[in-house]
Formats: sequence, structure tokens, C-alpha cells
Amino acid sequence: MAVLFSGEEFKKLKADLVLYKCALNNMDTRVQTLVEEFSNLHESNPIEHVKKRLKSPERIAEKLHKRGCTLTAENARTRLSDIAGIRVICSYARDILTIANVLSRQPDMKILKQRDYVNTPKASGYRSYHIILEVPIYLTDAVKRLPVEVQIRTQAMDFWASLEHKVRYRFNDEMPNAIIRSLRECSEGIAKLDKEMLNIQDIADLTRQRKDPFIRDDLRKP
Ligand code: GTP
Ligand code: MG
Repeated sequence: MAVLFSGEEFKKLKADLVLYKCALNNMDTRVQTLVEEFSNLHESNPIEHVKKRLKSPERIAEKLHKRGCTLTAENARTRLSDIAGIRVICSYARDILTIANVLSRQPDMKILKQRDYVNTPKASGYRSYHIILEVPIYLTDAVKRLPVEVQIRTQAMDFWASLEHKVRYRFNDEMPNAIIRSLRECSEGIAKLDKEMLNIQDIADLTRQRKDPFIRDDLRKP
């Protein structure tokens, strides 16, 4: 049976969601600024694509219910940090930390939590870098600060996560051991693939540098 907010709490939640939407748009603008900078002012852009989503009241209610919390707007605000979420998909594993650092170093941003599931994958095999950043929103007479969950991962990690999510859904969280094992193996395979692609990119970079007549000899990588 669907769990629902009371009329009064739903109204409060809807008002809060407007602010979360502004925080999400704010974060998206910061990421798009990086895309513009990387694409036009640097040699290449490590950001392949960006997805953003705001959690629906139904999903918020489900998650609070699952955690045994009363369905109130205040609990949504204080117990959930992924109401606003943005996923940044990048080309190579080493871009993940670059993007995480660039965003979290912005002076008006505050890191609330970070989890490195790239170097320490979850038991499922899930790999991704998560940071919850608090973003300021400037209203007519107040400044509000809201959390936005930023997930940063490579295309390979994203491919794994999206298929694993579908499989998990099919089994309703009760996956057979053989499938759990296969998914872990696929996750290892994906990490290996990411490493090999990075090696290829490094070799390509080096070869291009060696051939480029406009690079001063003392700046060439050995
Ligand atoms: P949630 O309450 O689900 O948001 O998880 P959490 O607060 O414990 O944070 P965590 O960093 O573990 O996970 C946050 C989000 O990462 C999830 O909502 C998923 O989008 C993603 N995620 C985490 N673990 C897995 C996993 O094993 N498989 C997949 N496909 N996604 C995962
Ligand atoms: Mg989540």
C-alpha cells in the first residue's frame, strides 16, 4: 500500500522541493560551467554527460517509511540528503577526483559527506564517488543552504550500476548468490577496463606530445 504525507505536511514538502530544485539547478550550472571551460578553454572535456533528478514526494515518503520515520517535511529535510541529486559521468577514472575536488573547493560550497566507492567499492561491486555538498540559494530576503548529492563515475561504472539496479529490482532485493557473484566479477572487469582505457589514453597523449612540433623540448614528457 502506498504511504502518503498528510495534506499539511505535503504542502510544506512541496514548498521545500522548490528550494531543492533551485539548489539542483545551481549545482547543474556549476557543472555546466566546467563543461564550457574544459571544452573551450582547455584541451579536452572529461565530462561525458550529466543527469539530474529531484526525488518525488512518493519516493521521499517510501524512503522515510522504510527508515521508520514519520512522514513530515522536517524529517525529509533532516533525514534525507539525496532529495536533489546529480550524476556526472566522466571519461576516465582519474577525472573523478578532479571533478570532485574542483566542485568541493568552491568557496561557498560545504562538504557534508563524501564516500569513495571507487577505491573502496561496495560489497555489491558498486563503484562511484559520492559527495553531498551544501549549496547556497539566494532568496529575496534569506540565504538557504541545501544538500545536493553528487555522484561521479565513469561510463563503465555507470553502465554496471544501471544494469545492476535493474537486476536488483527484478529480484526485489533477494538476489541469488550466483548472480551476486557474477555482478561482482563484472564490476572487477569494469575496473580493469577503466584502467586499460586510461593506459591507452596516456600512451596516445604521450605519442601526440612527442610528435607535436610546437611543444618545447624541455616540456616534453620523457
Ligand atoms: P541511499 O539511502 O540509497 O541513498 O543510500 P545511502 O544513504 O546509504 O548512501 P550510499 O552512498 O550508500 O548510496 C547512495 C546512492 O548510491 C543510492 O541511492 C544509489 O543511487 C547508489 N548506490 C549505492 N549502492 C548501490 C549499489 O549497490 N548498486 C547501485 N546500482 N547503486 C547503488
Ligand atoms: Mg539515493
